[in-house]
Amino acid sequence: ALRGSFALKARKANRGSRYGLQLVASYKVAILGAAGGIGQPLALLIKMSPLVSALNLYDIANVKGVAADLSHCNTPSQVLDFTGASELGDCLKGANVVVIPAGVPRKPGMTRDDLFNINANIVMTLVEAVADNCPDAFIHIISNPVNSTVPIAAEVLKQKGVYNPKKLFGVTTLDVVRANTFVAQKKNLKLIDVDVPVIGGHAGITILPLLSKTKPTVSFTDEEVEQLTVRIQNAGTEVVEAKAGAGSATLSMAYAAARFVESSLRALDGDGDVYECSFVQSDLTNLPFFASRIKLGRNGVEALIPSDLIGLSEYEDKTLEALKPELKASIEKGIAFVQKQP
Ligand code: NAI
Repeated sequence: ALRGSFALKARKANRGSRYGLQLVASYKVAILGAAGGIGQPLALLIKMSPLVSALNLYDIANVKGVAADLSHCNTPSQVLDFTGASELGDCLKGANVVVIPAGVPRKPGMTRDDLFNINANIVMTLVEAVADNCPDAFIHIISNPVNSTVPIAAEVLKQKGVYNPKKLFGVTTLDVVRANTFVAQKKNLKLIDVDVPVIGGHAGITILPLLSKTKPTVSFTDEEVEQLTVRIQNAGTEVVEAKAGAGSATLSMAYAAARFVESSLRALDGDGDVYECSFVQSDLTNLPFFASRIKLGRNGVEALIPSDLIGLSEYEDKTLEALKPELKASIEKGIAFVQKQP
């Protein structure tokens, strides 16, 4: 916290400087799965952040080249590479934010839940190492199925005695990014102004964009609501099919994940006005985890924003009730996976 407030003061002091430079960058970010389709562009975007002083890249292979390449960008952070389990601990020590896009992506015809068997093990192992080496870090889970991998991470952290629900996040920013883009296109709005909260989970029908809460206020016909909702829910599949076997969203995902990292760093740095949607432990519904807007602060989730769930449209109410059984089952599957380990 001390470091954060120092950085904030120093940044404020720098703001008026002759060159407009922010001279202080003080946070360490680790990316696990950094050589992958998401990991590489995400590492590039984080390398551009003035708030990052150290960028630690971990993968089971091919990460050396990625780090060497990025290290030539003349931005403040130092880039280091870590390959394989024996170097994972060193990668994580001192990290303020750990981002996890490790795992296999979908191919056409697959649901996110089809990835469960492989990715559940990967996330479990990586989060065990986070618990051992940087239990105080913000943990951003990208690996799918997020509806299960976040509960898996929570369970692992509980078993290690270091679970802090305020610091574990399922990254659903891409759903918001897509919703904003599609709504702006459909209603001819200036993209930068559009903000659509997306709640629920991160898979198919569990993704619920709250179009009635769109800012600026816009009205939609019933057909528009139905069409936009279904498009936002299936946007990932649009990309999977277009890539035809070569994977799922990587560039838009990296963009979205970088936004969530930047928001987290701003919150750590003392900015009191940071809001994002994320899949977190929640008491807004009867489900133990739920995506909603949250206020981010130095200690992670400072508040859930319940007002988004009040005064929903009839369509949203109905869709919310319909998504609960699937989301509940995915959460329970994740918890059971960890509890069943020998
Ligand atoms: P990718 O296959 O291109 O990259 C995955 C990387 O993870 C590879 O470099 C691989 O070597 C690495 N990896 C595998 N096992 C590992 C381990 N035990 N430790 C460290 N690294 C390991 O896949 P891509 O496209 O980057 O996707 C990654 C994940 O992100 C997938 O599970 C995908 O479903 C998910 N995803 C999530 C989204 C979201 O909105 N939350 C959106 C898009 C994808």
